[in-house]
Amino acid sequence: MTELVPVGVAGLGRCVPDKVLTNFDLEKMVDTSDEWIVQRTGIRERRIAGEGTVTSTLAIQAARQALEHAGVDPLDLDLVVCATVTGDQPFPATACRIGFDLGAKNAGGFDVAAACSGFVIASQVGANMVRSGQFRRVLVVGAEILSRILDYTDRNTCVLFGDGAGAALYTSLADAKGQGEFLGGSMSMEGGAEDVLANPGGGSRFPASLETIEKRLHFMKMGGTKVFRFAVRVFADLVRRVVEQYGREQIGVIIPHQVNQRIIEAAMEQVGLPMDLVFSNIDRYGNTSAASVPIALREAYDAGRLQKGKLVVMPAFGAGMAWGHLLLRW
Ligand SMILES: CC(C)(COP(=O)(O)OP(=O)(O)OC[C@H]1O[C@@H](n2cnc3c(N)ncnc32)[C@H](O)[C@@H]1OP(=O)(O)O)[C@@H](O)C(=O)NCCC(=O)NCCS
Repeated sequence: MTELVPVGVAGLGRCVPDKVLTNFDLEKMVDTSDEWIVQRTGIRERRIAGEGTVTSTLAIQAARQALEHAGVDPLDLDLVVCATVTGDQPFPATACRIGFDLGAKNAGGFDVAAACSGFVIASQVGANMVRSGQFRRVLVVGAEILSRILDYTDRNTCVLFGDGAGAALYTSLADAKGQGEFLGGSMSMEGGAEDVLANPGGGSRFPASLETIEKRLHFMKMGGTKVFRFAVRVFADLVRRVVEQYGREQIGVIIPHQVNQRIIEAAMEQVGLPMDLVFSNIDRYGNTSAASVPIALREAYDAGRLQKGKLVVMPAFGAGMAWGHLLLRW
Protein backbone atom coordinates (compact mmCIF):
# COMPACT_ATOMS: atom_id res chain seq x y z
CA MET A 1 0.00 0.00 0.00
CA THR A 2 1.22 3.51 -0.84
CA GLU A 3 1.89 5.83 2.07
CA LEU A 4 -0.74 8.44 2.85
CA VAL A 5 0.13 11.96 1.68
CA PRO A 6 -0.34 14.86 4.15
CA VAL A 7 -2.80 17.24 2.45
CA GLY A 8 -2.93 21.02 2.40
CA VAL A 9 -5.11 23.82 1.08
CA ALA A 10 -3.03 25.57 -1.58
CA GLY A 11 -5.55 28.23 -2.63
CA LEU A 12 -8.92 29.76 -1.88
CA GLY A 13 -11.36 31.70 -4.06
CA ARG A 14 -14.84 33.21 -3.97
CA CYS A 15 -17.23 34.99 -6.27
CA VAL A 16 -20.59 36.63 -5.70
CA PRO A 17 -22.77 38.31 -8.33
CA ASP A 18 -22.87 42.12 -8.32
CA LYS A 19 -26.63 42.48 -8.02
CA VAL A 20 -27.76 43.11 -4.43
CA LEU A 21 -31.29 42.22 -3.26
CA THR A 22 -32.00 43.97 0.04
CA ASN A 23 -34.66 43.23 2.62
CA PHE A 24 -36.29 46.48 1.53
CA ASP A 25 -36.48 45.15 -2.04
CA LEU A 26 -38.15 42.00 -0.69
CA GLU A 27 -40.69 44.13 1.22
CA LYS A 28 -42.01 45.13 -2.21
CA MET A 29 -42.27 41.51 -3.40
CA VAL A 30 -43.79 39.59 -0.44
CA ASP A 31 -45.48 40.36 2.87
CA THR A 32 -42.34 40.77 4.97
CA SER A 33 -40.23 43.48 6.60
CA ASP A 34 -36.59 44.31 7.04
CA GLU A 35 -37.14 44.21 10.80
CA TRP A 36 -38.62 40.66 10.71
CA ILE A 37 -35.85 39.29 8.51
CA VAL A 38 -33.02 40.90 10.50
CA GLN A 39 -34.45 39.81 13.86
CA ARG A 40 -35.20 36.23 12.80
CA THR A 41 -32.16 35.56 10.59
CA GLY A 42 -29.52 38.32 10.74
CA ILE A 43 -29.73 38.69 6.94
CA ARG A 44 -29.78 42.22 5.50
CA GLU A 45 -29.10 41.53 1.83
CA ARG A 46 -28.15 38.77 -0.59
CA ARG A 47 -26.61 38.58 -4.08
CA ILE A 48 -28.62 37.49 -7.09
CA ALA A 49 -27.17 36.26 -10.39
CA GLY A 50 -28.14 38.30 -13.44
CA GLU A 51 -29.76 36.96 -16.59
CA GLY A 52 -27.35 34.84 -18.62
CA THR A 53 -25.24 33.94 -15.60
CA VAL A 54 -25.29 30.23 -14.81
CA THR A 55 -23.84 28.37 -11.86
CA SER A 56 -20.61 27.48 -13.69
CA THR A 57 -20.06 31.20 -14.48
CA LEU A 58 -19.71 31.95 -10.75
CA ALA A 59 -17.87 28.70 -10.07
CA ILE A 60 -15.22 29.43 -12.71
CA GLN A 61 -14.48 32.88 -11.27
CA ALA A 62 -14.09 31.42 -7.77
CA ALA A 63 -11.96 28.60 -9.20
CA ARG A 64 -9.67 31.01 -11.08
CA GLN A 65 -9.10 32.99 -7.89
CA ALA A 66 -8.21 29.79 -5.98
CA LEU A 67 -5.80 28.69 -8.73
CA GLU A 68 -4.15 32.12 -8.87
CA HIS A 69 -3.85 32.12 -5.09
CA ALA A 70 -2.08 28.76 -5.31
CA GLY A 71 -0.04 29.65 -8.39
CA VAL A 72 -1.32 26.51 -10.14
CA ASP A 73 -2.04 26.21 -13.86
CA PRO A 74 -5.42 24.63 -14.81
CA LEU A 75 -3.51 22.13 -16.98
CA ASP A 76 -2.02 20.70 -13.78
CA LEU A 77 -5.39 19.90 -12.22
CA ASP A 78 -6.23 16.20 -11.82
CA LEU A 79 -9.83 16.50 -10.69
CA VAL A 80 -12.63 19.09 -10.44
CA VAL A 81 -15.43 18.44 -7.96
CA CYS A 82 -18.44 20.75 -7.88
CA ALA A 83 -20.80 20.75 -4.91
CA THR A 84 -24.16 22.11 -6.05
CA VAL A 85 -27.90 21.49 -6.08
CA THR A 86 -28.49 24.18 -8.69
CA GLY A 87 -26.07 23.12 -11.42
CA ASP A 88 -26.26 24.50 -14.94
CA GLN A 89 -28.65 21.64 -15.79
CA PRO A 90 -29.55 18.26 -14.16
CA PHE A 91 -26.80 16.64 -16.22
CA PRO A 92 -24.06 16.65 -17.39
CA ALA A 93 -22.13 17.50 -14.25
CA THR A 94 -21.41 21.21 -13.83
CA ALA A 95 -17.85 20.17 -12.88
CA CYS A 96 -17.29 19.15 -16.52
CA ARG A 97 -18.26 22.63 -17.76
CA ILE A 98 -16.04 24.23 -15.11
CA GLY A 99 -13.09 22.04 -16.11
CA PHE A 100 -13.65 22.71 -19.82
CA ASP A 101 -13.92 26.49 -19.43
CA LEU A 102 -10.90 26.60 -17.13
CA GLY A 103 -8.85 24.65 -19.67
CA ALA A 104 -8.26 21.81 -17.20
CA LYS A 105 -7.65 19.36 -20.04
CA ASN A 106 -6.02 16.73 -17.89
CA ALA A 107 -8.68 16.60 -15.15
CA GLY A 108 -11.71 14.45 -14.47
CA GLY A 109 -14.84 15.89 -12.91
CA PHE A 110 -18.09 15.15 -11.13
CA ASP A 111 -20.70 16.88 -8.96
CA VAL A 112 -21.63 16.26 -5.35
CA ALA A 113 -25.27 16.88 -4.41
CA ALA A 114 -25.36 17.35 -0.67
CA ALA A 115 -27.09 20.76 -0.54
CA CYS A 116 -25.76 23.02 2.23
CA SER A 117 -23.26 20.34 3.34
CA GLY A 118 -21.95 19.99 -0.22
CA PHE A 119 -18.65 21.82 0.16
CA VAL A 120 -17.55 20.19 3.40
CA ILE A 121 -18.43 16.75 2.01
CA ALA A 122 -16.86 17.37 -1.43
CA SER A 123 -13.74 18.74 0.29
CA GLN A 124 -13.32 15.52 2.26
CA VAL A 125 -13.75 13.51 -0.95
CA GLY A 126 -11.26 15.69 -2.84
CA ALA A 127 -8.69 15.97 -0.06
CA ASN A 128 -8.78 12.23 0.57
CA MET A 129 -8.11 11.62 -3.14
CA VAL A 130 -4.90 13.59 -2.65
CA ARG A 131 -4.17 11.83 0.64
CA SER A 132 -4.50 8.43 -1.08
CA GLY A 133 -1.83 9.39 -3.58
CA GLN A 134 -4.17 8.92 -6.56
CA PHE A 135 -4.31 12.64 -7.47
CA ARG A 136 -1.99 15.57 -6.82
CA ARG A 137 -4.24 18.58 -7.33
CA VAL A 138 -7.98 18.54 -6.72
CA LEU A 139 -10.16 21.63 -7.12
CA VAL A 140 -13.34 21.66 -5.03
CA VAL A 141 -15.96 24.28 -5.80
CA GLY A 142 -19.23 25.02 -4.00
CA ALA A 143 -21.54 26.99 -6.29
CA GLU A 144 -25.23 27.82 -6.32
CA ILE A 145 -27.79 29.97 -8.06
CA LEU A 146 -30.59 29.34 -5.59
CA SER A 147 -32.55 32.34 -6.86
CA ARG A 148 -33.57 30.19 -9.86
CA ILE A 149 -35.37 27.67 -7.62
CA LEU A 150 -36.78 30.15 -5.10
CA ASP A 151 -40.48 30.94 -5.09
CA TYR A 152 -40.61 34.73 -4.80
CA THR A 153 -44.25 34.46 -3.66
CA ASP A 154 -43.22 32.33 -0.62
CA ARG A 155 -41.93 34.54 2.18
CA ASN A 156 -40.94 31.45 4.22
CA THR A 157 -38.07 30.67 1.87
CA CYS A 158 -37.30 33.51 -0.54
CA VAL A 159 -35.86 35.85 2.10
CA LEU A 160 -33.28 33.34 3.31
CA PHE A 161 -31.16 32.43 0.30
CA GLY A 162 -28.74 33.95 -2.19
CA ASP A 163 -26.28 33.10 -4.97
CA GLY A 164 -22.50 32.69 -5.05
CA ALA A 165 -19.51 30.37 -5.34
CA GLY A 166 -16.35 29.50 -3.43
CA ALA A 167 -13.42 27.21 -4.16
CA ALA A 168 -10.48 25.47 -2.53
CA LEU A 169 -7.53 23.73 -4.13
CA TYR A 170 -6.22 20.64 -2.30
CA THR A 171 -2.64 19.50 -2.90
CA SER A 172 0.04 17.75 -0.87
CA LEU A 173 0.91 19.77 2.24
CA ALA A 174 4.39 20.36 0.81
CA ASP A 175 2.92 21.83 -2.42
CA ALA A 176 0.46 23.96 -0.43
CA LYS A 177 3.37 26.20 0.62
CA GLY A 178 2.47 26.93 4.18
CA GLN A 179 -1.29 27.21 3.81
CA GLY A 180 -3.72 25.17 5.92
CA GLU A 181 -3.41 21.46 6.59
CA PHE A 182 -6.41 19.19 5.97
CA LEU A 183 -7.04 17.20 9.16
CA GLY A 184 -10.28 15.44 8.19
CA GLY A 185 -13.91 15.89 9.13
CA SER A 186 -17.14 13.96 9.27
CA MET A 187 -20.23 13.07 7.23
CA SER A 188 -23.60 12.02 8.66
CA MET A 189 -27.22 11.86 7.56
CA GLU A 190 -30.77 11.34 8.71
CA GLY A 191 -32.81 9.99 5.82
CA GLY A 192 -36.55 10.08 5.13
CA ALA A 193 -36.63 13.87 5.27
CA GLU A 194 -37.74 14.68 1.73
CA ASP A 195 -40.59 16.89 2.95
CA VAL A 196 -38.46 19.02 5.28
CA LEU A 197 -36.22 20.81 2.80
CA ALA A 198 -36.32 19.97 -0.90
CA ASN A 199 -36.79 20.93 -4.51
CA PRO A 200 -39.41 18.23 -5.17
CA GLY A 201 -40.07 18.55 -8.91
CA GLY A 202 -38.11 17.33 -11.90
CA GLY A 203 -36.72 14.05 -10.55
CA SER A 204 -38.09 10.50 -10.78
CA ARG A 205 -40.54 11.10 -7.91
CA PHE A 206 -42.30 14.06 -9.54
CA PRO A 207 -41.10 14.28 -13.15
CA ALA A 208 -41.80 17.61 -14.81
CA SER A 209 -45.42 17.93 -15.93
CA LEU A 210 -48.10 20.57 -16.14
CA GLU A 211 -49.21 19.43 -12.68
CA THR A 212 -45.76 19.86 -11.10
CA ILE A 213 -45.64 23.35 -12.55
CA GLU A 214 -49.13 24.23 -11.30
CA LYS A 215 -48.26 22.92 -7.82
CA ARG A 216 -45.02 24.93 -7.91
CA LEU A 217 -43.01 21.77 -7.22
CA HIS A 218 -39.98 23.08 -9.08
CA PHE A 219 -39.40 25.59 -6.30
CA MET A 220 -37.72 24.99 -2.95
CA LYS A 221 -40.02 23.86 -0.11
CA MET A 222 -39.06 24.04 3.54
CA GLY A 223 -40.41 23.33 7.02
CA GLY A 224 -38.53 26.14 8.76
CA THR A 225 -39.02 25.19 12.40
CA LYS A 226 -37.91 21.55 11.89
CA VAL A 227 -34.80 22.73 10.06
CA PHE A 228 -34.05 25.26 12.81
CA ARG A 229 -34.09 22.62 15.58
CA PHE A 230 -32.11 20.11 13.50
CA ALA A 231 -29.48 22.73 12.59
CA VAL A 232 -28.88 23.86 16.18
CA ARG A 233 -28.59 20.25 17.41
CA VAL A 234 -26.12 19.01 14.80
CA PHE A 235 -24.06 22.24 14.68
CA ALA A 236 -23.56 22.04 18.46
CA ASP A 237 -22.74 18.33 18.21
CA LEU A 238 -20.12 18.84 15.49
CA VAL A 239 -18.34 21.62 17.40
CA ARG A 240 -18.49 19.63 20.65
CA ARG A 241 -16.70 16.71 18.95
CA VAL A 242 -13.82 18.97 17.89
CA VAL A 243 -13.57 20.48 21.38
CA GLU A 244 -13.47 16.98 22.92
CA GLN A 245 -10.79 15.77 20.51
CA TYR A 246 -8.51 18.83 20.39
CA GLY A 247 -9.47 21.09 23.31
CA ARG A 248 -11.13 24.48 23.26
CA GLU A 249 -7.87 26.45 23.15
CA GLN A 250 -6.86 24.86 19.82
CA ILE A 251 -9.82 26.41 17.99
CA GLY A 252 -8.85 29.55 16.07
CA VAL A 253 -12.06 30.16 14.20
CA ILE A 254 -15.40 28.48 13.51
CA ILE A 255 -16.72 29.09 10.00
CA PRO A 256 -20.16 27.49 9.98
CA HIS A 257 -22.55 27.10 7.10
CA GLN A 258 -24.02 30.60 6.93
CA VAL A 259 -27.54 29.53 7.71
CA ASN A 260 -29.12 31.96 10.14
CA GLN A 261 -27.50 34.13 12.81
CA ARG A 262 -29.94 32.85 15.45
CA ILE A 263 -29.09 29.21 14.68
CA ILE A 264 -25.38 30.02 14.97
CA GLU A 265 -25.89 31.87 18.28
CA ALA A 266 -28.10 29.14 19.76
CA ALA A 267 -25.59 26.39 18.85
CA MET A 268 -22.64 28.35 20.23
CA GLU A 269 -24.54 28.91 23.46
CA GLN A 270 -25.26 25.16 23.70
CA VAL A 271 -21.56 24.30 23.46
CA GLY A 272 -20.63 27.18 25.75
CA LEU A 273 -18.31 28.96 23.33
CA PRO A 274 -18.21 32.74 22.71
CA MET A 275 -19.55 34.21 19.47
CA ASP A 276 -16.24 35.97 18.80
CA LEU A 277 -14.86 32.60 17.67
CA VAL A 278 -17.31 32.61 14.76
CA PHE A 279 -16.78 34.12 11.33
CA SER A 280 -20.09 35.18 9.80
CA ASN A 281 -21.03 37.05 6.65
CA ILE A 282 -24.68 36.04 6.62
CA ASP A 283 -25.83 39.68 6.84
CA ARG A 284 -24.45 40.29 3.32
CA TYR A 285 -25.14 37.06 1.46
CA GLY A 286 -27.85 35.07 3.26
CA ASN A 287 -27.65 31.30 2.88
CA THR A 288 -25.84 30.30 -0.33
CA SER A 289 -26.01 26.54 0.37
CA ALA A 290 -22.87 24.74 -0.91
CA ALA A 291 -21.18 28.09 -1.60
CA SER A 292 -21.58 29.49 1.91
CA VAL A 293 -18.62 27.83 3.66
CA PRO A 294 -16.01 28.41 0.91
CA ILE A 295 -17.08 32.06 0.41
CA ALA A 296 -16.76 32.61 4.16
CA LEU A 297 -13.46 30.70 4.26
CA ARG A 298 -11.87 32.98 1.67
CA GLU A 299 -13.28 36.08 3.38
CA ALA A 300 -12.00 34.87 6.75
CA TYR A 301 -8.57 34.39 5.14
CA ASP A 302 -8.67 37.94 3.70
CA ALA A 303 -9.74 39.30 7.10
CA GLY A 304 -6.77 37.61 8.81
CA ARG A 305 -9.05 35.34 10.84
CA LEU A 306 -7.17 32.10 9.99
CA GLN A 307 -4.52 31.95 12.72
CA LYS A 308 -1.27 30.07 12.15
CA GLY A 309 -1.27 26.73 13.92
CA LYS A 310 -4.90 26.98 15.05
CA LEU A 311 -7.92 24.94 13.98
CA VAL A 312 -10.43 26.13 11.39
CA VAL A 313 -13.71 24.32 12.13
CA MET A 314 -16.39 24.27 9.43
CA PRO A 315 -19.68 22.63 10.43
CA ALA A 316 -22.41 22.38 7.78
CA PHE A 317 -25.91 20.92 7.67
CA GLY A 318 -28.97 20.96 5.46
CA ALA A 319 -31.27 19.03 3.14
CA GLY A 320 -31.05 15.30 3.31
CA MET A 321 -30.80 15.81 6.20
CA ALA A 322 -27.07 15.62 5.60
CA TRP A 323 -24.43 17.17 7.81
CA GLY A 324 -20.74 17.07 8.51
CA HIS A 325 -17.68 19.16 9.19
CA LEU A 326 -14.38 20.00 7.60
CA LEU A 327 -11.34 20.53 9.80
CA LEU A 328 -8.15 22.36 8.85
CA ARG A 329 -5.14 23.49 10.84
CA TRP A 330 -3.92 26.80 9.43
C1 LIG B 1 -37.71 30.41 8.74
C2 LIG B 1 -37.36 30.99 10.10
C3 LIG B 1 -36.49 32.21 9.95
C4 LIG B 1 -38.63 31.39 10.84
O1 LIG B 1 -38.29 31.90 12.08
P1 LIG B 1 -39.13 31.46 13.36
O2 LIG B 1 -38.57 32.15 14.53
O3 LIG B 1 -39.18 29.97 13.35
O4 LIG B 1 -40.51 32.08 13.00
P2 LIG B 1 -41.75 32.08 13.94
O5 LIG B 1 -42.15 30.66 14.24
O6 LIG B 1 -41.52 32.97 15.11
O7 LIG B 1 -42.78 32.77 13.01
C5 LIG B 1 -43.31 32.09 11.95
C6 LIG B 1 -44.32 33.05 11.39
O8 LIG B 1 -43.60 34.01 10.64
C7 LIG B 1 -44.13 34.06 9.35
N1 LIG B 1 -43.09 34.33 8.40
C8 LIG B 1 -42.31 33.44 7.76
N2 LIG B 1 -41.47 34.07 6.94
C9 LIG B 1 -41.73 35.38 7.08
C10 LIG B 1 -41.18 36.54 6.48
N3 LIG B 1 -40.21 36.46 5.58
N4 LIG B 1 -41.66 37.74 6.86
C11 LIG B 1 -42.63 37.84 7.77
N5 LIG B 1 -43.21 36.77 8.35
C12 LIG B 1 -42.74 35.56 8.01
C13 LIG B 1 -44.75 32.69 9.13
O9 LIG B 1 -45.73 32.75 8.15
C14 LIG B 1 -45.32 32.39 10.48
O10 LIG B 1 -46.53 33.09 10.61
P3 LIG B 1 -47.78 32.45 11.37
O11 LIG B 1 -47.31 32.29 12.78
O12 LIG B 1 -48.84 33.47 11.17
O13 LIG B 1 -48.04 31.15 10.69
C15 LIG B 1 -36.63 29.94 10.96
O14 LIG B 1 -37.48 28.87 11.28
C16 LIG B 1 -35.41 29.37 10.28
O15 LIG B 1 -34.45 30.06 10.02
N6 LIG B 1 -35.40 28.07 10.02
C17 LIG B 1 -34.29 27.43 9.36
C18 LIG B 1 -34.39 27.66 7.89
C19 LIG B 1 -33.10 27.42 7.19
O16 LIG B 1 -32.13 28.02 7.54
N7 LIG B 1 -33.08 26.53 6.20
C20 LIG B 1 -31.94 26.20 5.47
C21 LIG B 1 -31.14 25.20 6.23
S1 LIG B 1 -29.77 24.71 5.36
